[in-house]
Amino acid sequence: MAILFDSTSRLFTLTTAHSMYQMKADRYGVLLHTWFGMKGSAFDYSYRIAYADRGFSGNPYDAGDDRTYSLDALPQEFPVYGSGDYRSTALKVRYPDGTAACDLRYLSHEIHKGKYSLPGLPSLYDTLDGNNQPRGICDPTEHDAKSDTLIITLEDTRRMFYVHLYYGVMEDLDIITRAVCVENHSGLDIYLENIQSVCVDYLHGSYDLHTFYGRHVKERNHQRTPLGHGIHSVGSTRGTSSHQYNPFLILSDRDTTEDTGNCYGFSFLYSGDFLGNAELDQYNQTRLLLGIHPDNFCYCVKPAERFHAPEAALAYSAQGLGRLSRIFHQAYRTHLCRGKWTAKRRPVLLNDWEGVYFDFDGDKLIQMARDAADLGIELFVMDDGWFGKRDLDVSGLGDWTVNEKKLGCTLKELSDQIHGLGLQFGIWFEPEGINEDSDLYREHPDWAFTVPGKQPTRSRLQLLLDFSREDVREYIFSHICQVLDSARIEYLKWDLNRSLADLYSASLPAKRQGEVMHRYVLGLYDMLEKLTQRYPDMLIEGCSGGGGRFDAGMLYYTPQIWCSDDTDAIERLSIQYGTSFGYPVSTMGSHVSHCPNEQTRRITPLNTRATVAMSGTFGYELDVNKMTEDEKTIVKAQIREFKEYYDLIQYGDYYRLTDPDTADAYHGWEFAAEDGSEALLCIVALQIHPNGPGRWMCLKGLNADSIYTVNDEEYPGDVLMNGGLLLPTAAEEYESFRIHIVECPAV
Ligand code: DGJ
Repeated sequence: MAILFDSTSRLFTLTTAHSMYQMKADRYGVLLHTWFGMKGSAFDYSYRIAYADRGFSGNPYDAGDDRTYSLDALPQEFPVYGSGDYRSTALKVRYPDGTAACDLRYLSHEIHKGKYSLPGLPSLYDTLDGNNQPRGICDPTEHDAKSDTLIITLEDTRRMFYVHLYYGVMEDLDIITRAVCVENHSGLDIYLENIQSVCVDYLHGSYDLHTFYGRHVKERNHQRTPLGHGIHSVGSTRGTSSHQYNPFLILSDRDTTEDTGNCYGFSFLYSGDFLGNAELDQYNQTRLLLGIHPDNFCYCVKPAERFHAPEAALAYSAQGLGRLSRIFHQAYRTHLCRGKWTAKRRPVLLNDWEGVYFDFDGDKLIQMARDAADLGIELFVMDDGWFGKRDLDVSGLGDWTVNEKKLGCTLKELSDQIHGLGLQFGIWFEPEGINEDSDLYREHPDWAFTVPGKQPTRSRLQLLLDFSREDVREYIFSHICQVLDSARIEYLKWDLNRSLADLYSASLPAKRQGEVMHRYVLGLYDMLEKLTQRYPDMLIEGCSGGGGRFDAGMLYYTPQIWCSDDTDAIERLSIQYGTSFGYPVSTMGSHVSHCPNEQTRRITPLNTRATVAMSGTFGYELDVNKMTEDEKTIVKAQIREFKEYYDLIQYGDYYRLTDPDTADAYHGWEFAAEDGSEALLCIVALQIHPNGPGRWMCLKGLNADSIYTVNDEEYPGDVLMNGGLLLPTAAEEYESFRIHIVECPAV
């Protein structure tokens, strides 16, 4: 059992393969956080706390005249607002009498076999049942659960509500999950004004905070900053997890590298507003909080009701950032993504968007599909523009009826023809969007987010539907189903092309308007769940103007997400590099597009565009009919090569070898089989220097004692990892190399 409870000291020690997490209910029942890091003895780590008289920090009443006991200085598991902890806190509750000072004490706990699941919210799972639902906590005799659950209940000292802290201990995966539930037993309404899913307090240490910032067409750039005194926060108030900041954060020691040193990853399984907050306090203690952003949030919990805050996944690595990423990669690939496509080989696709945008008819699509089939592409995706009045991005959203006039045929006829060419068929939707110029808006203007008496904020000339409303969701769902049922469709791209604004739901009273953002996200999850239940064989790709909703919450429903609307191979190096810190390559939608590139006008070799796109889900997004015969020959070979390396790329261990933003001329990354039997080294020459120096790249993840073949030469594994491989000299800027390294059979 990975959860130990010492009833004498009221000490909870949670262990995974390489990490340990510890809490203690102290003599006053305050739940202290005593350790998160290297696995070791289940010793009581609270010995490290230095109690001292902390001026101006206050003492709980039950501490009597003990002036050394102050919540403002103690490392706590779930610190609350209003009772003397003046740092950022995890909970703020507005009581029925309008006050907000809160105090929580340990009441009880339960330990279960299996991993808890959360109603209506994504969560990591131990195992799934036949309907793709997490099996949750279970009787130990029921099945061989590899995870355990701890639920600690804290009670509000005014006896109005309980806080249930959930911990999932996923021992083999090296992951600990956290979630929080507030249960109101006051008989009156209480209002949650802030609820964070994670709080971790570090007693000492100097840390760097790693965040992933960006913008549309430049998502998830890695930023590493030394944490100084004060609060450093990132977050989103856009209603989506956003292009601007990602709900994934890392704290590391100052000297932590890719391969060495301590680091701690925090990933939020949520697709709406979030706040990640790191604070270095007056005593040089660091507090990390991650949860729903409180700005657009105020949730009424009715008597006897429970509110569940979303889950966060935590991991610790003593072997640097690379190992930390690989923990998340494995966990998300195997215990977050669900359904048939989790472990099944996914098709190489052609998406028509950058090839034709809105300018197509059925014949054009068939012509493209014909060439695509010839190239070895397996799935043809018809992107935006096939429905309603939609020849530009200004109208039609919400009208999910096939524009047969534009296609020149029915959807079934189109799909049948594409299948006749040996391809699967996929289609784009933006279910949450609505244009004012649409039949749906003319019929139901109140279904769009608008604030009464105020002109709405437009973005891409569109509004958003109120997905917090079940009637709105049901309408859209039934129309999507009508389309999906009318033809053979194996793939769906779920897009969203603006941030939320003008949050107001006609279905909620004034005092509950603070729930709209969260209810919107719950509505989104509800609809995605229904979709995956109804179409279990369909591959769904998430998207929000590229990577505006690239988060672990979405991955529970869509095993891949379009990584960015920037398809320039060189820009993609940084985007995919940053994304790789928290997410596996199997989730990163990545396509080869035409040159000059649509976003940057840059020209890169076709081979390089494939090197980059292959380090993701791999597909093409261009007009194949315009390709030359030479290009077609190259593409055929690329697709054959990708299929050959599929398992290594999608399921192998991913190593970042250099940082593309600081790399010295050559940028590299590598996929290595878990058993070290082969590796694929990918290199892109970022700069060319005539008469330049030699370039080497040290490999990782090989067996030191084995001999490997590289380009018909033999090298010992330790030599390739320590001395490195001498790289070919690039003949032109942005040239790339994919180098296969294979272990020789033992003699
Ligand atoms: C934004 C997406 O990221 C693109 O790939 C494309 O689907 C467009 N929307 C269509 O409007």
